[in-house]
Amino acid sequence: MKIACLAGDGIGPEIMAEARKVLDALALDGVIVEDADVGGAGYHKHGHPLPPATLELAKSADAVLFGAVGDPSCDNLERHLRPEQAILGLRQALTLFANLRPATMFPGLEDLSALRPEVAREIDLLIVRELNGDVYFGEKAIRRLDDGRRQGFDLMSYAEDEVRRIAHVAFRAAQGRGGRLCSVDKANVLETSQLWRDVVVEVSAEYPDVELSHMYVDNAAMQLVRNPGQFDVVVTGNLFGDILSDQASMCVGSIGLLASASLGETQTAYGTKGLYEPIHGSAPDIAGQGKANPLAMILSLAMMLRHSFSLEAEAARIEAAVAKTLADGIKGADLGGSAGTAEIGDAVLARL
Ligand code: NAD
Ligand code: IPM
Ligand code: MN
Repeated sequence: MKIACLAGDGIGPEIMAEARKVLDALALDGVIVEDADVGGAGYHKHGHPLPPATLELAKSADAVLFGAVGDPSCDNLERHLRPEQAILGLRQALTLFANLRPATMFPGLEDLSALRPEVAREIDLLIVRELNGDVYFGEKAIRRLDDGRRQGFDLMSYAEDEVRRIAHVAFRAAQGRGGRLCSVDKANVLETSQLWRDVVVEVSAEYPDVELSHMYVDNAAMQLVRNPGQFDVVVTGNLFGDILSDQASMCVGSIGLLASASLGETQTAYGTKGLYEPIHGSAPDIAGQGKANPLAMILSLAMMLRHSFSLEAEAARIEAAVAKTLADGIKGADLGGSAGTAEIGDAVLARL
């Protein structure tokens, strides 16, 4: 069971250290972990955010555990050299088109949500974000118009097979949860979204047991804070899913709590090959201060054990230890507490 461990930039290495402690404590047989540079760290050491050796390691591994990338000193580099290209490149190179971002209320955190506790209490949703298409991967440029004005240009597009495969993932996820799927788009304005909606409706014929609804993304953003309890599984495109998942994180208390799995169709001897990362970034504003919440990273490790190694019991054990840590009042600054990164990691370890 080969795991590529890519810690990345900013708080990436700090939160990864805590996830590694948890992984080590499980003392799983046959696990090999290999580290490699990625993001700004990759650029500074090897001249590229996704050095060839890192990409090869990710390709050869059964799963990738990913911290975060993003380095303000790289913000003015040409786009293909920026740290963020590493995560985009990995998602594309490994065809990880299905990004699962669960947002569930942990008991005891209701008062820390940005929402009223009685509204927040009901949150138990899964955002299924498409990860290989949309405006992220279309033709893009800052170009000159004939009259000399500059124009920014990013093509938004989805091919029907790209929509179909993520729709199947979402319908199956709904079958395994509450049986309800809400597809979020902007079909009242965008042709990309009209095709998205048409294809989701076509695929729904294969899932008569799932209740399908559609919602425009602006309304979805509003409903997510008005009544998030109405959502079971939400399926949406790459850009809308990026935005809505950061928003969902504050509904459950902090962006430092949301984990994710990025999956494709590659099966290994142990499960589905995938990349696992928190939904947050490298948080340069708090990097190096020991203040980052490592729980999203630790919960991403749990998702890796579940999806890539079929170790459901171990995944559940980690999730229970995280829930107990929070229920016991051990919280970082992001949740109004005073526990540092290592202290939170140690508290999870003690509760494993
Ligand atoms: P961010 O998610 O890094 O941070 C946003 C805010 O949330 C900051 O105030 C930060 O301190 C806080 N925060 C984030 N994670 C936290 C944690 N675990 N514990 C406590 N607080 C936390 O988003 P940003 O500031 O917009 O972006 C910073 C860099 O990260 C950028 O370069 C961006 O491109 C990159 N980024 C990378 C990823 C990724 O690697 N997948 C995801 C998002 C952003
Ligand atoms: C995320 C991040 C990335 C995205 C960036 C860093 C490319 O925001 O993983 O949510 O937009 O997908
Ligand atoms: Mn994001």
